[in-house]
Formats: sequence, C-alpha cells, structure tokens
Amino acid sequence: MQTALAGATPYLSVNNVEVIYDHVILVLKGVSLDVPEGKIVALLGANGAGKSTTLKSISTLLKGERGEVTKGSISFRGERVDQLTPNELVKKGMVQVMEGRHCFGHLTVEENLLTGAYTRNISRGDLKESLERVYHYFPRLKTRRTSQSGYTSGGEQQMTAIGRALMAKPTMILLDEPSMGLAPQIVEEIFEIVRDLNQREKVSFLLAEQNTMVALRYADFGYILENGRVVMEGDAKELAANEDVKEFYLGLSSGGRKSFRDVKHYRRRKRWLA
Ligand SMILES: Nc1ncnc2c1ncn2[C@@H]1O[C@H](COP(=O)(O)OP(=O)(O)OP(=O)(O)O)[C@@H](O)[C@H]1O
Ligand SMILES: [Mg+2]
Repeated sequence: MQTALAGATPYLSVNNVEVIYDHVILVLKGVSLDVPEGKIVALLGANGAGKSTTLKSISTLLKGERGEVTKGSISFRGERVDQLTPNELVKKGMVQVMEGRHCFGHLTVEENLLTGAYTRNISRGDLKESLERVYHYFPRLKTRRTSQSGYTSGGEQQMTAIGRALMAKPTMILLDEPSMGLAPQIVEEIFEIVRDLNQREKVSFLLAEQNTMVALRYADFGYILENGRVVMEGDAKELAANEDVKEFYLGLSSGGRKSFRDVKHYRRRKRWLA
C-alpha cells in the first residue's frame, strides 16, 4: 500500500485501521492509506462506504460518536497521533472540515472565521493577517463578512467552513465532502481554491468525496473505499481513465449499478478468458 509514495516517508499514514461503532458495528475493516507531503489525496466511495469514518478516525473525532479505533495505527509527520485530542492535533497542523459545513448560523461570516483561531494564542495583528489571508483565497467571504452565516448560500457556508479551518494555519486539511449539495460551478470554484491552497501554501489534503470524477481531476492520488475496505488505489489520472472506475461511477454498465468489486472481478475474468 505504498504506491502513493514511491519510498518517501508519508506525511499522514493510516495503517490497517479498524473502527467499531457502539461496540458491535464493524465499519472499517482494515483501512490503510498514505498522504505524501504537499499532495492532494482523494478518498472515494459511495454512500456509507466509510469515508467520513476514516477521516474521523484520523482527527480523533470518533469518540464523540461512540466509535472506536480497535486496530491499527495512525501517524502524522512520523509520530503516532491516535491518542491525541483534536486540539492537540490542530496544534500539530492537522484540521478537519466536517461534512455538512457546520457553520454557526447565528454568527457572522467573520465571527465564524475567528472561531477557527481559538487554539492559537495569537496577537491581534496576527489575527488580522490570518483573516486577510482567508479573504485573499475567498474574496466572496470578504464581501459577506458581516452577514449572518445562516443566511449565506451553501457555497459560501462551505467556504466559511474551509476558511475557518485555515485560521488554524494547518499544514494538512481533512476535507469531508466539500461538493455536497452544491451546484457544479460552485464545486469547481471550491476545488480551484483547494488546488490554490495546495500549490501556494503547500497545504496537504485528504479529501473525501462521492463526486469521483471532480475529485480525481484535482487530486494527485486516489483510494476507493467500499464497505469499509480499500478496493482500489492509484494515480488520480490513471484511476479516472480506468474502465472499471468509469463503468461503476459513471453508471456505464448495462446491468445497472453494481458493486465495484463485482465489476472488477467480472473484468478480471473477462481478461482471463481473452
Ligand atoms: N455514529 C455511528 N454509529 C453507528 N454507525 C455509524 C455511525 N456513523 C456512521 N455509521 C455507519 O458507518 C458506515 C459508514 O459511514 P460513513 O459516514 O463513514 O460513510 P461515508 O462513506 O462517509 O458515507 P457518505 O458518503 O454518505 O457520507 C455506514 O454504514 C453508517 O451507517
Ligand atoms: Mg461521509
């Protein structure tokens, strides 16, 4: 499972992680993945595949949901991080943007952004600079800075959620389903900003997405999760061009939407016979 790295030390490394909810529900069945420094890695899969669970197992947010990592290990910058609190992780440079945006609706956009800096003990000047940095990447937020978040659009709320994460000056962002419920044009706008942050600020991303084809256009590498297991991984361009991935995710198969595994096995058999 080291293909993403070609021998380099991974920045984030998830090794054989198993997650159980409520003591009995086995959801992740040994997931391994790596994010090299400065890369965008996509974690793909259908509804319920375990993408959010994987991100929460990394950011240690599972505990609040009666979930537990029962096997495996997680390292960030060469150090085990499985026992840290989310705050300690933020201080080490890793922040998660939760699925569903989660802005404080009654606060203004700017107040929401400011909540992202709470783990940093910083001066007013530094705070202002951090805000300006967010507004530089999200000019839309600057024009909406005094609006109550609850009244801003879905796209603006997603931008606010990412902007708030940026206020903690992370070097790694776990981004859960940024495209959810947004119009295609806004999705592109958000992914362009993700790319910009990656290229200019060297922020690494682990990006969970159901929107496979968009995510693969922006990612360097991808993993496909199904039913709590990685069923395929590869270079993003190769995955996007892969017939099995296209067949499954673009619904090109004749017999309706099959399990990705079935498609893969079926194709394998076909190759065998040929
Ligand atoms: N707190 C929880 N308690 C019990 N089961 C849970 C809990 N959270 C998630 N699950 C189950 O774990 C499985 C994986 O869920 P998860 O949210 O990780 O999937 P996902 O890939 O993020 O899906 P989606 O694309 O819909 O967001 C699902 O079957 C879900 O029902
Ligand atoms: Mg999810």
